[in-house]
Amino acid sequence: MTTMTRKPTAFGDMRGWMKALDAAGELHNVDAEVDWKVELGTVTRLAQGPGTGSALLFNNIKDYGKNARCHQVFTSGLASARRVAMMMGLSPDTHARELVKIGRTLLTESIAPKIVKTGPVKENIVKGKDVDLFEFPVPQWNRIDGGRYILTYGGVVTKDPHTNVMNVGVYRGMVADKNKIPILMWRAQHIGHHVTAWQEAGYKEMPIAIAIGWEDSLPFVGGSPVPKGLCEYDVVGAIRGEPVELVKCETVDLYVPASAEIVIEGVLKFDPDTYTMEGPFAEFTGYVAGDRSLKPTIHVTAITHRTDPILRGTIEGSMPGSFSENGVCSSIMRAATAWNVLDRAGVPGVTDVWCPPVQTGINVYVQIKQSYRGQAKQVANALWGSSAAHVRYKHVIVVDDDIDIHDYAAVDWAVAYRVNAGENDIVIMPSTFGAGLDPSTRRRDRNVVQFGTGKWNRLLIDATVNLDYDPDPDLGGARFPPKVWPEQKDIDAVQKRWDELGLDKRKR
Ligand SMILES: Cc1cc2nc3c(=O)[nH]c(=O)nc-3n(C[C@H](O)[C@H](O)[C@H](O)COP(=O)(O)O)c2cc1C
Repeated sequence: MTTMTRKPTAFGDMRGWMKALDAAGELHNVDAEVDWKVELGTVTRLAQGPGTGSALLFNNIKDYGKNARCHQVFTSGLASARRVAMMMGLSPDTHARELVKIGRTLLTESIAPKIVKTGPVKENIVKGKDVDLFEFPVPQWNRIDGGRYILTYGGVVTKDPHTNVMNVGVYRGMVADKNKIPILMWRAQHIGHHVTAWQEAGYKEMPIAIAIGWEDSLPFVGGSPVPKGLCEYDVVGAIRGEPVELVKCETVDLYVPASAEIVIEGVLKFDPDTYTMEGPFAEFTGYVAGDRSLKPTIHVTAITHRTDPILRGTIEGSMPGSFSENGVCSSIMRAATAWNVLDRAGVPGVTDVWCPPVQTGINVYVQIKQSYRGQAKQVANALWGSSAAHVRYKHVIVVDDDIDIHDYAAVDWAVAYRVNAGENDIVIMPSTFGAGLDPSTRRRDRNVVQFGTGKWNRLLIDATVNLDYDPDPDLGGARFPPKVWPEQKDIDAVQKRWDELGLDKRKR
């Protein structure tokens, strides 16, 4: 477990969070005019870099002058591990390894929210036929997208009709009309569980609300696998060390943060005749996915917002050279979740877990202190048998504890010299559940109804030293030869002479 301690920090709202980012040199204001159509998304994708870019506040958006209902967009708040650390109440310099360790308990802690009478989100209330989603500078993030996506990093709030426990999840949603938002709703997700429960109870629609723009801990938790039945508001409360203050919605019996920038209220209708066209969308894989089709649709009943609200959004699709907020957050939380799965399954000797941000947790690296042959297979079996493997952990790479899994070169070296495909180091687990959004899955295998979430053939690469090799008498009984890195006494001797040798300070 980690030795770091968090100083939970309540930033107040999105503006407080942006102020903290600004003070830390992590926020960039874009004051030049930018088009909501394709250009804003292109700037975001180019600027985010491999976890190195700033958070962006777009202040001047084409067609949305100062008198518009909304004229600013905030994005990339969590597109770097530095800012995720700040959000968690840690120094921005905290290593991602520590963030993973902290992430292992983050989603189980809880501070209950507090209901308050009113708040800034009620400064403006628009109802019924006055609702017009086109009054907001909703980006068409990518030229290839099927439309303008207003739901990219909002907290979608629904509740269980029997227990009344709310769920807050991040799900994509497109503007189909001035008051209609079709969403990508999977039955396997908690929103899908709610849809099933409301339908089985005889309802034709379900109340829904979306909180857009608050402290970034909200979309962070909404996009993470919080255990079913635990409300995300409680988890967010624990992250910030103070209860989330909630107000009741105007037209539905749901609660949203009192200082959110924008809240959209409505009903999600179940009758397929009410579905509207959605997609395609540049997805988390870095490929276009989720075909254009009729989807369940939110029929908006009201919008409440602060005066001069700031729209929060994110661009999806991690790629080499440009890591999305989802990629950065998943690299931490999917690794933390995998580690917990392994612990619960009783797999011994796990010393580190990591999912590099470029692939959002599709590949997982596990470092173990090996004590018997077969431990790597136990790792893969435990992960693939858990429901956490839904849309994650397609490829499992297991290495020994001398390999730094945060160093691509180290992992590559282990794969190069410790893997022997003829010795069962490569194992394929065919035809399991997986992810239909993955373009390497054949089109006909992406059928969510038939395969749960799309068919995946999973792979283990056991890149640990094979403990089943015979001890080599020429190596003093060792199974593998010694590595060529100098012995400590030789390193110490040379280091003493380093200045004399005129070489720069050694990096390792
Ligand atoms: C930016 C972003 C967009 C997402 N879009 C969707 C989506 O459209 N549909 C979906 O089912 N999950 C989507 N997810 C993943 C869910 O947010 C994630 O699986 C989360 O755990 C769901 O919450 P739940 O466990 O309460 O259902 C998205 C995540 C992020 C960060």
